[in-house]
Amino acid sequence: MQQVKGVIARGKGAPVELVTVNVPDPGPGEAVVKIQACGVCHTDLHYREGGIGNDYPYLLGHEAAGIVEAVGPEVHDLAPGDYVILNWRAVCGACRACLRGRPWYCFATHNAKQKMTLEDGTELSPALGIGAFIDKTLVAAGQCTKVDPAARPAAAGLLGCGVMAGLGAALNTGNVGRGDSVAVIGCGGVGAAAIAGARLAGANRIIAVDLDDRKLANATELGATHTVNSSATDPITAIQELTGGFGADVVIDAVGRPETWKQAFYGRDLAGTVVLVGVPTPEMQLELPLLDVFGRGGSLKSSWYGDCLPSRDFPMLIDLYLQGRLPLDAFVSEEIGIDGVEAAFEKMHGGNVLRSVVVF
Ligand SMILES: NC(=O)c1ccc[n+]([C@@H]2O[C@H](COP(=O)([O-])OP(=O)(O)OC[C@H]3O[C@@H](n4cnc5c(N)ncnc54)[C@H](O)[C@@H]3O)[C@@H](O)[C@H]2O)c1
Ligand SMILES: [Zn+2]
Ligand SMILES: [Zn+2]
Repeated sequence: MQQVKGVIARGKGAPVELVTVNVPDPGPGEAVVKIQACGVCHTDLHYREGGIGNDYPYLLGHEAAGIVEAVGPEVHDLAPGDYVILNWRAVCGACRACLRGRPWYCFATHNAKQKMTLEDGTELSPALGIGAFIDKTLVAAGQCTKVDPAARPAAAGLLGCGVMAGLGAALNTGNVGRGDSVAVIGCGGVGAAAIAGARLAGANRIIAVDLDDRKLANATELGATHTVNSSATDPITAIQELTGGFGADVVIDAVGRPETWKQAFYGRDLAGTVVLVGVPTPEMQLELPLLDVFGRGGSLKSSWYGDCLPSRDFPMLIDLYLQGRLPLDAFVSEEIGIDGVEAAFEKMHGGNVLRSVVVF
């Protein structure tokens, strides 16, 4: 066991605290990872505000890269010194989804079995089974995905959640291909990554929709060919006008509200694909004519973690980053210290950052 500093949310809405955490030595199938960088994701804020559960105290942080410090028994494909991105989809290999060759739908993913605790023994709930605003964290070995160590940790770690969710919404769930038209509604970290993913896939028309002109300017840098400020312009009409009257082949809702999903549905060409990657809250309801759902054909999908398979996608995307084909650095708006998480939540509300990244 060792003692390190970590950032916890002790109760609903209370400011985060930097406290001493006991990290057990890795048991069977586990690893301790020295964190080098961890992005601040909207989901961390959801945890703090009680939007995800009531299992306080939460150990926040989950978009991280670092170096494996120690591994427990029965770990064969990971060793101290390995450079890894942490993932929240350590697939089991044995559930129905895994056995039929669709492990990105695995419903028995692994986390560490032992608990990290406060000094008084209180067990912590790590955000998304990771908990990485901490010097060292304990995870299941399968949560560590080895990538090329040439990739800067602040950029690489972002693949661990939001940027992967956006890239995968375009590449995996939306299956965007060469010559497709794509619209992305909401251009925060996730939506901006969906735009980068659409460009990587060869989409030739990429329409960014947001309420905030700063986000639209970012989106243009990442590959949007057109922008629509939906506080001033009806996005459905605008998307149709920009696609010869048809609507886009793939529309990605990276906000997750009934009105944005409807914009995606009606801004989509007949028989195209709607991808919901933004996360709705429990009270949200959707009402629309069932005949439109039938008559417009196509597919309506949701995208959890970009339908990614970390072992397949992380090393590949890091290679593209190192080749200059995926601008991960553009998502790092600022590097902050471990005491800067609360201020980073404030900036998230202000809307002027894609990602604040804690660097250790
Ligand atoms: N599916 C997944 O696996 C997954 C993973 C990570 C995050 N998410 C979710 O994705 C969503 C986006 O996350 P983020 O980190 O990019 O958040 P963010 O706060 O950085 O970005 C949200 C963007 O949406 C814009 N926006 C808000 N309301 C809008 C509206 N009505 N019309 C158009 N634009 C609007 C904002 O201006 C902002 O640019 C969140 O719901 C988050 O929880 C999903
Ligand atoms: Zn499985
Ligand atoms: Zn996240």
